Amino acid sequence: MMKPILICLVSCLLTIVQAIFIHRCDLAKILHEEDLDGFEGYSLSDWLCLAALESNFNISKVNENTDGSFDYGIFQINSHYWCNDYKSHSENICRVDCRDLLSLDLLPTINCIKKIVSGAGGMKNWVNWRLHCSGRPLSYWTTGCHLG
Ligand SMILES: *[C@@H]1O[C@H](CO)[C@@H](O)[C@H](O)[C@H]1NC(C)=O
Repeated sequence: MMKPILICLVSCLLTIVQAIFIHRCDLAKILHEEDLDGFEGYSLSDWLCLAALESNFNISKVNENTDGSFDYGIFQINSHYWCNDYKSHSENICRVDCRDLLSLDLLPTINCIKKIVSGAGGMKNWVNWRLHCSGRPLSYWTTGCHLG
């Protein structure tokens, strides 16, 4: 009778410990270094606004959608189109394992978001960006960040 409880305790604790968060300005710095400031006409502030809405800067975030696909990582990249999670059908346009989008090493994520915004619709691929970031004053997102 004790075992299931113990297992839950351990795995639940692990889940909490494993959640990786990134500071807003650390993310800004990495995106800046990877030339995303102005990439396809979108600013760092657009990316920060998007990350805040999609994951609240929780790199570990995974969310299941009603269609059975999953969204991964800080920008909640969808497994139906962009990455392969070996659970459901995927176009895998970014040619990446979805788990690599949950890593503190953001390069796989950055390569994928570059691909997404370069395609039709740009950042409108993220409904949250269109609804809550597009056309709004966003420069405060990078306030206090030293981008070097
Ligand atoms: C971060 O994401 C993980 C995975 O979805 C989740 O288990 C965890 O609760 C999230 N952390 C917070 C504080 O939202």
